[in-house]
Amino acid sequence: RSEESQIVLEAHQWLAKLYHHLLRNSKEGKEAFQYLLDRGFSEETIKKYQIGFSPNSKDFVVTFLEKKGFHPQTMVKAGLLSTNDQGDYADRFRGRVIFPLRNHLGKTVAFAGRALGKQEPKYLNSPETELFQKGKLLYNFDLARSAIRKQKRVILFEGYVDVISADQAGVHNAVGTMGTSISSTQANLLKRYVDQVIICYDGDKPGVEAAAKAGQLMKETGCQTFVARIPDGLDPDDFIQKHGGDRFQKEVIDTSETYMTFLMSFLKRDYNLQIEGDRIAYIEKVLQEVAKLDRAVEREHYLNEIAKEFEMSLDTLKEEVQSIQRVSP
Ligand code: GTP
Ligand code: MN
Ligand code: MN
Ligand code: MN
Ligand code: MN
Repeated sequence: RSEESQIVLEAHQWLAKLYHHLLRNSKEGKEAFQYLLDRGFSEETIKKYQIGFSPNSKDFVVTFLEKKGFHPQTMVKAGLLSTNDQGDYADRFRGRVIFPLRNHLGKTVAFAGRALGKQEPKYLNSPETELFQKGKLLYNFDLARSAIRKQKRVILFEGYVDVISADQAGVHNAVGTMGTSISSTQANLLKRYVDQVIICYDGDKPGVEAAAKAGQLMKETGCQTFVARIPDGLDPDDFIQKHGGDRFQKEVIDTSETYMTFLMSFLKRDYNLQIEGDRIAYIEKVLQEVAKLDRAVEREHYLNEIAKEFEMSLDTLKEEVQSIQRVSP
């Protein structure tokens, strides 16, 4: 790791402390602090996750970092400051709730700044740097690691606040991706720790689509993969705030479906099963997926379901799967 990275790392630790301090102790931070309490985060949680506030100022952070001896140009590269053509430096995060993004060692390597109101973008994230690559970092992995290892199971969320909310509600084996996609690097990292993964993305359309993609990747690593469904288009945090952690555990986590069951209903959206041709195309598509399953028991289980649903013989379906496997084993 370069010397510059070391300096950038140090700047992030200082700034995380400053933002957190401002949230809890400054007059300017009061609104953001209240915002977090109103959203249901406890003081303890705010402290545990070192959530902060970046003042709505052009140069508060510029001055702070300068005083600490950091070179502004390096801080621009680090994504902590911005600069214009005239060479003036300015704070990058302004008037936002700050979520420090920690690496697997617990060091802050980036920030996500959430707007307090309806301003766009809703989240302003640090740019990618030597220390922070979206596709490599799993949010909260440092804190969740021991629970993940103990339970041999991880729950995957798409948002930082979902992870924090779940943890506060007693679900400690929670990690998040930065947005809606998981990379194969992240999938393989998880596979080293767990046998089971539960994908718990938002209940809206992008969330469901991302769950299908993430499920595919996790399944390919060989993990037993489940997908949790959240009713009414809510996201995990919405559900927990509305119904509490117990109901989240019982009605969302414990009732998650296998990836294959999820996929079968997900694929249905593309077909009109009242139409004969569509029905056959759908069955064909599902059989392609079944053919990819490693275990015969698993294959037979789903073939039975399809046989029942479409009143077909199990033998015909088995034969079809075998012929698919012969073509692309
Ligand atoms: P809240 O609205 O605060 O509850 O956040 P959320 O986690 O529900 O947000 P959402 O489901 O919209 O987004 C999930 C994740 O996508 C966030 O945690 C971010 O990582 C990312 N994301 C959302 N909005 C933006 C955006 O405007 N810009 C960027 N860069 N990322 C975003
Ligand atoms: Mn607990
Ligand atoms: Mn979402
Ligand atoms: Mn969401
Ligand atoms: Mn949300």
